[in-house]
Amino acid sequence: MSVSQTKPLLKSLRGETQATPPFWLMRQAGRYLPEYRATREQAGSFLDLCYSPELAEEVTLQPLRRYGMDAAILFADILLIPHALGQPLSYREGEGPVLDPVRSAAGLAKFDLGRIHDTLAPVYETVSRLSSSIPKDCTLIGFAGAPWTVASYMVEGRGSKDYTHIKRWIFKDPEGFAALIDILVASTTDYLLRQVEAGAEVIQIFDTWAGVLPDDEFRKWSIEPTRRIVDGLRARYPALPVIGFPRGVGANIIDYVKETGVTAVSLDTGTPLAWAAREVQSLVPVQGNLDPLLLVEGGAAMERRIAEIIATFGDKPFIFNLGHGITPQTPPENVARLAELIRGK
Ligand code: CP3
Repeated sequence: MSVSQTKPLLKSLRGETQATPPFWLMRQAGRYLPEYRATREQAGSFLDLCYSPELAEEVTLQPLRRYGMDAAILFADILLIPHALGQPLSYREGEGPVLDPVRSAAGLAKFDLGRIHDTLAPVYETVSRLSSSIPKDCTLIGFAGAPWTVASYMVEGRGSKDYTHIKRWIFKDPEGFAALIDILVASTTDYLLRQVEAGAEVIQIFDTWAGVLPDDEFRKWSIEPTRRIVDGLRARYPALPVIGFPRGVGANIIDYVKETGVTAVSLDTGTPLAWAAREVQSLVPVQGNLDPLLLVEGGAAMERRIAEIIATFGDKPFIFNLGHGITPQTPPENVARLAELIRGK
């Protein structure tokens, strides 16, 4: 049997139940690690870090050296696509990403689909380096944002509390907004195909803000664009495992799973465990869903919840993860404890 067939993460994604579930953590490379902060400083800006294959490779490997996760996730960001399309982007201390907002179909003309790979080439180089430098049982995950979530930053110009601009656009001018989604479906599919060519073994699609959509708009702006991307990937790589993360969508996660064609789904912190085991894990392998703030807090409360999550999902195909990304204030020793508990040590 080849090594790739025995990797724990790939086994779960193929539908195998394992006594010890594989684990990784969303945003596992980041500011909670002192060695990340040092490399980040060396790189200069966050974008410089994303576009420096050697340094991006280094920060991807940092959490693996400490905790031996079962997956490495490419170090990059979901907003590299708008950046590569030509939308000015910067990351500001304490403020997060800031973009020159685009708020009408007329604003789309400046996006240049033909040239994105000139900008994104260093990301493919990072993937290719990682595919030979990660440990042999570790699986390499490539990723992108789902069109809806990426569009939310492109339209709002930053993280938002109420999503006023993007929501008014979909209600006022759905055809115009669909043109933006089409650009994102095409560029994201291409971007992910190149990651797979470079060595990514699994793809995760982050739809962090899917839960902002009203129920009757969810299919059109989250499910459909994701399905088109999954179809585009499978046309070239029929067996490619894809993990979806439609955050905050409640019971609509069932339609999401059935209609997008994802291989597995990542559950957010609010998803009831027993309900998800019955209604979602009966359809596909699930990943999740410890509250990242419980990982910050640690102690008995964290240990209880980890045990509960494993007890609920562990008897079917399962990948342990957080319900959202790790936060910068996480004590590294709590991550070590989590790894110990999962591995049963
Ligand atoms: O380790 C990994 O998971 C790989 C790298 C990764 C990053 N961002 C690095 C990053 C991944 C998978 C992402 C995904 C991402 N980026 C999402 C979806 C997942 C989620 O958490 O919801 C979103 C919405 C973004 C957009 C983004 N990038 C925001 C809102 C921010 C600012 C908030 C923050 O955490 O600082 C970023 C910046 C960013 N992306 C950082 C990192 C490590 C911090 C930047 C820094 O080092 O200064």
